[in-house]
Amino acid sequence: MLHLNIVNVETPEEMGKAAADVFEAVIHAKPACVMGLATGSTPLPLYRELIAREKAGLIDFSRVRSANLDEYKGLGPDHPQSYRRFMQENLFDHISIKPENTIVPDGLATDIPAMCEAYERKIEDWGGVDIQLLGIGHDGHIGFNEPCDYFPVMTHEVQLTAMTREANKRFFSSIDEVPTSAITMGIGTVMAAKRIVMIITGADKAEILHKVFFGPVTPEVPGSILQFHPDVTLICDAAAAAGLHK
Ligand code: F6R
Repeated sequence: MLHLNIVNVETPEEMGKAAADVFEAVIHAKPACVMGLATGSTPLPLYRELIAREKAGLIDFSRVRSANLDEYKGLGPDHPQSYRRFMQENLFDHISIKPENTIVPDGLATDIPAMCEAYERKIEDWGGVDIQLLGIGHDGHIGFNEPCDYFPVMTHEVQLTAMTREANKRFFSSIDEVPTSAITMGIGTVMAAKRIVMIITGADKAEILHKVFFGPVTPEVPGSILQFHPDVTLICDAAAAAGLHK
């Protein structure tokens, strides 16, 4: 059953600090822990905070491993909008994590099912995800698990919805540049994480926050599956928290 720990913050910067507190505690307890990481706008204050804390000597990433949630199909590590590049620029290049200890699904893989299987196996070999970071899409997607009529279990290829492509076009020069499909960890991969931190900021996410945590559990709102996870910390700012009180 859901054990939801709610942390209310005022600003994205405070959200970053609150989320960093959880990551710091996990890394102290297990220096070679496995972090499940997300891209997008919401994690940026967290990544800035993690970088600052390692510089201040508070965290040591040298033994930490990380697995990202997703990647656009067709975009390689050098593409400015690839999630691998995002992670390098916004986190990995600034901390002591070893390159071989960071994995992101390969957007250029020719055999996608084999790559997805290898991705799952790698996470398993590492002993599973200790702490999974999640944002939420306006349609309730987690990773790139879009609303559909079942919960996809493992890492897989997915067609992006018009809503997600529209939301992400802000990073591309036009909607036509936004890839139409992606590779994402499955709902099962996410749910297997020992601990989950979901970060939500902004009034535009209040409604979906409500649906995810207080609506019916349905693959039409993929994030609603979190109601069945035993250890979720939800960190939200006041604007998104309006969704807690509907
Ligand atoms: C990205 C990811 C997505 C985002 C979601 C919210 O790796 O997994 O599910 O978390 O699209 O994105 P932002 O934070 O940009 O609103």
